[in-house]
Amino acid sequence: TPLDRIRNFSIIAHIDHGKSTLADRLIQVTGAVTAREMKEQLLDNMEIERERGITIKAQTVRLNYQAKDGQVYTLNLMDTPGHVDFAYEVSRSLAACEGSLLVVDASQGVEAQTLANVYQALDANHEIVPVLNKVDLPAAEPERVKQQIEDVIGLDASDAVEISAKTGLNIEGVLEAIVTRLPAPKGDPAGTTKALLVDSWYDAYLGVVVLVRVKDGHLRKGQKIRMMSNGAVHTIEQVGVFTPKMAAVESLGPGEMGYVTAAIKTVADTNVGDTITDDRRPAEEPLPGFKPSIPVVWCGLYPVDADDFEKLRESLGKLRLNDSSFHYEAETSAALGFGYRCGFLGLLHLEIVQERLSREFDLDLIATAPSVVYKLTKTNGEKIDLHNPADMPDGSLVEEIEEPWIKATIMVPDDYLGAVLTLCNERRGQQVELTYVGSRAMAVYRLPLNEVVFDFYDRLKSVSRGYASFDYAMDGYEPGDLVKISILVNNEPVDALSFMAHRSAAERRGRQICEKLKELIPRQLFRIPIQAAIGGRVIARETISALSKDVTAKCYGGDITRKRKLLEKQKEGKKRMRQFGKVEIPQSAFIAALKMD
Ligand code: GTP
Repeated sequence: TPLDRIRNFSIIAHIDHGKSTLADRLIQVTGAVTAREMKEQLLDNMEIERERGITIKAQTVRLNYQAKDGQVYTLNLMDTPGHVDFAYEVSRSLAACEGSLLVVDASQGVEAQTLANVYQALDANHEIVPVLNKVDLPAAEPERVKQQIEDVIGLDASDAVEISAKTGLNIEGVLEAIVTRLPAPKGDPAGTTKALLVDSWYDAYLGVVVLVRVKDGHLRKGQKIRMMSNGAVHTIEQVGVFTPKMAAVESLGPGEMGYVTAAIKTVADTNVGDTITDDRRPAEEPLPGFKPSIPVVWCGLYPVDADDFEKLRESLGKLRLNDSSFHYEAETSAALGFGYRCGFLGLLHLEIVQERLSREFDLDLIATAPSVVYKLTKTNGEKIDLHNPADMPDGSLVEEIEEPWIKATIMVPDDYLGAVLTLCNERRGQQVELTYVGSRAMAVYRLPLNEVVFDFYDRLKSVSRGYASFDYAMDGYEPGDLVKISILVNNEPVDALSFMAHRSAAERRGRQICEKLKELIPRQLFRIPIQAAIGGRVIARETISALSKDVTAKCYGGDITRKRKLLEKQKEGKKRMRQFGKVEIPQSAFIAALKMD
């Protein structure tokens, strides 16, 4: 296809504004899928994605559209995930396109994620066409929302396309806007091959499939290609496009998007953002790559039943095959036994992985408190990245601790602004900006990520009755007065319960966790002190008093079946306990304690 007949675009939107519905319509209207084949939400093909209505993996579809000018255009649609945790996947999808449709719900208006996504699209030099969706709703206010787009984003919205993705109204208007308002890709068909590696995943039949965007030259079957990051050479077995079904083609040229298979063993051998070139006539310079995905939140995952460890290991390996942003390494905990330290892009990512492990792999897991990555400088000059609070060296050996900060954008109706500002201030937030968008306030705050990973989203939703929208981007590291808090049960530290906190919040957090554990750990025949400590200094303490009499006493001489039942029940209960020194701690205590702020 000649370059001027290609358009590569993505759809950016706040969650629920109708991105997937519009994508489905575009596919349907251009006839890529017949109505009968058309399943709802075609692009969201993972079960959890569909249930939660969020798009995780970037997908792509090639559409053919005969425009009003009589020409047939090839439109490549890249689906992008909408959630903050996947900002990195958004950026790599955007790097493969020249333009974006900015979908805004005409009854809701601009939201925090709309903004975050627009900034990323602008960073990628995209031409942006505003699309007002859901104009079929009685509450739709297209004129007001257009004004908002101009005021807040600074985009000309006078010729925004007004549509209803649900009823199919004016989908043609979107297609015409793509053709007439978005730029065609540039590239040199005769140049040395340069293609951007956008994504890769494991397919049971084809092995590793690589999603590419060709910039210059061609990719063909039989061609020897070289990965510029590591020099690995592979022979292409198949090139193709997504219609959305995979369909083999002869070759992919400049401006085109599609897939390549080349007997690559594992996705770990493919680096997203890498440049693929021709092995015989290699390019000198790689394409500007994008930032690698770095896990920002870590937690330990342990099987509830120690016998499931092997199964956990296998399951993590399988998950990793299709999720290169998920990291894991073996670790052991005195309290929880053998498990894995796992790294995630954010809290939602963590939740999704946990859910997949329990749902698809039928694993019962305990997750330790999520922790961010701290940068430590020891007094001897050594620098380490701390992923697990349990590994924190003795305080006297640490010169400085730096913690990651984020820049958060929060949009909230005026009525709840006060509560939201209070929450941000409690979490050591620094206000950067406070402006109004109609009757909604937009607050930009810098916050330590450590204050956000616990329960910030939940608190934000509750203080704003669900009306606040939130998005963030990483904003560097800064030194902070952070301490490790250890929890001691019966005078023994329980490593899985230790956590990092700012000194100002240490006592409150320590007290909360001790109180919680007192409720959750069953009384035993002796007194059990529960303490929170910083180094050797105890900052909070509770005591579980001893049981005064034997619980089973009431069974003696009683009905034998009743007694047996009680014993069986105890045995079952045992499985869910962890022996710790002399004390048995129920799993539920770990889970509850770890879930707290
Ligand atoms: P994520 O995939 O979660 O990011 O959401 P999305 O932006 O893809 O939204 P989706 O397409 O799933 O639509 C969200 C909801 O809005 C669904 O219940 C749709 O049926 C509904 N919806 C989408 N477009 C329209 C529209 O034009 N009019 C009306 N009334 N509802 C719509």
